[in-house]
Amino acid sequence: MKATARANANIALVKYWGKRDDELILPMNGSISVTLSGLNTVTTVEFNEKLRNDVFVLNGVEQKGDERKKLGNHLDLVREKAKIKWNARVESKNNFPTAAGLASSASGFAALSVAAAKAAHLELNEKELSILARMGSGSASRSIHGGFVEWQKGTKKDGSDSYAEQIAKPGHWENFRILTTIVSGKEKKVKSRAGMKQTVQTSPMYKGWLETVENDLENVRAGILKKNFSLVGETAEMNALKMHSTMLTTRPAIIYWEPETIEIMHAVQELREEGTECYFTIDAGPQVKVLCLQKNEAIVTARLGEITGLQKIVPCKVGGKAETISEHFF
Ligand code: PMV
Repeated sequence: MKATARANANIALVKYWGKRDDELILPMNGSISVTLSGLNTVTTVEFNEKLRNDVFVLNGVEQKGDERKKLGNHLDLVREKAKIKWNARVESKNNFPTAAGLASSASGFAALSVAAAKAAHLELNEKELSILARMGSGSASRSIHGGFVEWQKGTKKDGSDSYAEQIAKPGHWENFRILTTIVSGKEKKVKSRAGMKQTVQTSPMYKGWLETVENDLENVRAGILKKNFSLVGETAEMNALKMHSTMLTTRPAIIYWEPETIEIMHAVQELREEGTECYFTIDAGPQVKVLCLQKNEAIVTARLGEITGLQKIVPCKVGGKAETISEHFF
């Protein structure tokens, strides 16, 4: 009863920020993302009757406390469905910094869901896998799929209509690039779970967020289908800034940006003024992802490379779906 899966991270072009149900992880608004090639989590899960409790090793370090509890809760969902009682050993590796706003929970819970379902011999379709992954971390619902992906907020109380579906395959937009910058490998101070809850409760801007997000979804969806880069980029950048304005106006204020974050935002604006089209987007952390087309990748990379304090630029194309693989960690 062992299986291994690999899932890619994703970056939202229209963000998920705020829940209407904390338990089932149901969002206040729909979201659209692009799956990233090359930023991934690989996870092996083995259910074993000899284990006295669940064991979780992340990037070579055994996890206790909250992380293990979250993992155990997620495995319980799989155990319930499969009607098994055995504990599991889970080993997981991210090929990028964990919990620094680089969507490790998205690829993490997507890989865990696919591996655990397979190890438990559950035959789940993509909709069921997306729902399972969503219950670990909202953004993980989208990492089940490759390409461009939309997570429907749904309206049902039980969450059965809140799952992600592919809008366009990875090959649909071959020259779309996402330059992921790493400015800080530090763990972020406010995790998105706590941050979004606090925002919904206290930010006076949150109402404006909800009022405008449907329009952003329409624009980004249409822009993807028509491969209209300006429409997708402009909407995504403004959507990220709107989300951050709700964070900044939360009590206590949530400021995810580091000095380098702001420098990159300025550099992107300057590049645009000089005629190189590119846009930025930022999640719940200091990292900036810069969107551009292949023809401008070199010039944007060179400009970003001039920023001191920027540790790394990882160029990503549009990535594929979560899959099981045959090599296990143990
Ligand atoms: O699913 P979580 O808890 O990792 O929250 C993700 C929130 C954002 O990354 C800020 C936005 C998004 O849609 O991915």
